[in-house]
Amino acid sequence: MQRPRRLRANALVRELVRDVYVDKKNLIQPVFVKEGIREKEEIKSMKGIYRHSSDSLLREIDELLDTGINKVLLFGIPKDKHEKADNAKFENGIVQNSIKDIKKRFGNDILLITDVCMCAYTTHGHCGILRDEHIVNDESADIISDIALSHVRSGADIVAPSDMMDERVKKIRSKLDNEGYDYISIMSYAAKYASNYYGPFRDAANSSPSFGDRKTYQMDYTYLKDAIKECKLDLEEGADILIVKPALSYLDIISKVKSKVDVPLAAYQVSGEYSMLKNAVESGLVNSDIYLESLNSIKRAGADIIITYFAKEFERMLKWRNFMQ
Ligand code: PBG
Ligand code: ZN
Repeated sequence: MQRPRRLRANALVRELVRDVYVDKKNLIQPVFVKEGIREKEEIKSMKGIYRHSSDSLLREIDELLDTGINKVLLFGIPKDKHEKADNAKFENGIVQNSIKDIKKRFGNDILLITDVCMCAYTTHGHCGILRDEHIVNDESADIISDIALSHVRSGADIVAPSDMMDERVKKIRSKLDNEGYDYISIMSYAAKYASNYYGPFRDAANSSPSFGDRKTYQMDYTYLKDAIKECKLDLEEGADILIVKPALSYLDIISKVKSKVDVPLAAYQVSGEYSMLKNAVESGLVNSDIYLESLNSIKRAGADIIITYFAKEFERMLKWRNFMQ
């Protein structure tokens, strides 16, 4: 008789045979900085996550470092919006200034990745610019590459384009190389779906499209082959790290991409995933160990890196679980 239960007999045996590990070194915490506020504001739809002022962002990073998280993905929320996202590339824009502040204070103690997109900066909330109601590709990708360059000039370590325009990775790569930034990595949102799970984020970043949706540029969740195509294209264009997004409803995509590519693979556990789990725990529906369970499932699917709003709580969650055992 086979008795798999022998290796579940007690906590130490279970620990002995464990073969899935989530390491805080592979976690990235998304952070928001908002122009023109003095105090941090809690995001109602994302309990425990804040829109930071320039100052409170530095305190937040201090706290993250205290918990052993030293990698962040920075999002900016500007005061003004323009038709063509003019201030997304300003040398003294909210993100650019924050990058400089963070690097001045923390240097290489923090890995600073910046989200590169236009949707929080455009009057219409789309990730590119418009001709009538069409989101124009090539001109948008040019602007995206200017934004990326401005982040790198300010001191970003890695840029993460999230717009899903075709060939934007190529344009960013060549612009960075021409300016002498051949050592800066591109972490591209390669397989990014037009997902309902971004709802709380759009509330957080004030970036909902004012008309239509993002389905003409983000991926359709009923077209499976698109995922590998997008990942391969981004690699050919010069991406160093690929992102699959969202994570929990797309574990199959993570696993498939993992088997087809040989670069570091990140999964983004997005705002809606975070808020659903948070709300379920806070209302007493499920135990808070579900957070670790979700991170482990993303790791098992094949993600090397996880971008998650739970990163800050990770160390505490681990301690709690070890204590419970
Ligand atoms: C901007 C962007 C979005 C997210 C990351 N970058 C929103 C969107 O595409 O509408 C989603 C992140 C999250 O939901 O946590 N393009
Ligand atoms: Zn966008």
